[in-house]
Amino acid sequence: MLNAKIAGLGHYVPKQVVTNADLEKIIDTTDAWIVERTGIKERRWADVPEESTSFMGAQAAKAALAQAGLQESDVDCVIFATLSSDYFFPGSACVVQNFMEFSGNIPAYDIRIQCSGFVYGLQMADSFIKSGLYKCILLIGAEIQSTSLNKTTAGRDTAVIFGDGAGAAVLIPSENEKEGILATSVHAEGKYAKELWCEGPTPLDKVRMTLESIESGKHFPYMNGRYVFKHAVTRFPEVLKESLEKAGKTVDDLDWFIPHQANLRITEAVGNQLGISPAKVISNIHKYGNTTAASIPIAWSEAVLDGRIKRGDLVGIAAFGAGFTWGSVIVRY
Ligand code: COA
Repeated sequence: MLNAKIAGLGHYVPKQVVTNADLEKIIDTTDAWIVERTGIKERRWADVPEESTSFMGAQAAKAALAQAGLQESDVDCVIFATLSSDYFFPGSACVVQNFMEFSGNIPAYDIRIQCSGFVYGLQMADSFIKSGLYKCILLIGAEIQSTSLNKTTAGRDTAVIFGDGAGAAVLIPSENEKEGILATSVHAEGKYAKELWCEGPTPLDKVRMTLESIESGKHFPYMNGRYVFKHAVTRFPEVLKESLEKAGKTVDDLDWFIPHQANLRITEAVGNQLGISPAKVISNIHKYGNTTAASIPIAWSEAVLDGRIKRGDLVGIAAFGAGFTWGSVIVRY
């Protein structure tokens, strides 16, 4: 059976840095509150429309292909994980083709699984490669949160947390069953959809976008922070252990743990529960905030570029997010 190997990783973050001090100027918040509750010191905001979700995804994808030593024309499938596609339709996996030189009319899958999008995408890519359907899959996680946030005091719980960016991985087959993706697990519990969601614009309104719906703030994300926190700290360890067991590994076998960068307090609580040394936990939330589907590939790509994660290392990845959705992957990088 073929395994899906990570041939290359890449990331792109917008140039504009927004510090907690910048947010203090527009929202009733403080650097101390944000750092203590979330660990975030700054985040990036995209310069739209140039730095669109698909543009950023393409830059991350080009970096991943360059690291893999592959060409854009080698890619035979694109999976694009985002909750902030450039348009309602078509999806970003199609639009990204305008920034890249793919060969032929390769298939384009958009997946909308919020913070768990990249983990779900890894499972899809692994399955496609195992089945022999595709041989060079580009998996992108890219997000623009900044233009959706309520940047007033009324939206301060979410406005300080989320940021923009993109990451990508190139997956190819390997006949070595000891390398690449060893196990995956993904789950969802839709009864909690409204605990972290964005209600509008919605086709359930007779006219999809009205002044009334904008005035009611339906287009801003809503988060029941404490509820999300409680579920996240349970699901992260549970699902990581599930994949470790499938892979025949234990927590102690892991060289690295890359959690979705939701919040430093969640990362620390999960690391403690699992008994993973903080030195093995990849965290960059202080620089970028929570970039939803982009957070794992950005963190992974950075850790490879700065020499922390090396070929042959055993990496555990886990995510939790809106839906609720959650999942994990064990990969011999
Ligand atoms: N600055 C200052 N005060 C803020 C604030 C901000 N940015 N955001 C909220 N507050 C205030 C609240 O209004 C509240 O004030 P009150 O007591 O006068 O009503 C107070 O801080 C406490 O709010 P609460 O929501 O209970 O705080 P918390 O300790 O739960 O922390 C989160 C809030 C959002 C940081 C926390 O719930 C959390 O981390 N949740 C998980 C979020 C997450 O990771 N989401 C992504 C999942 S993928």
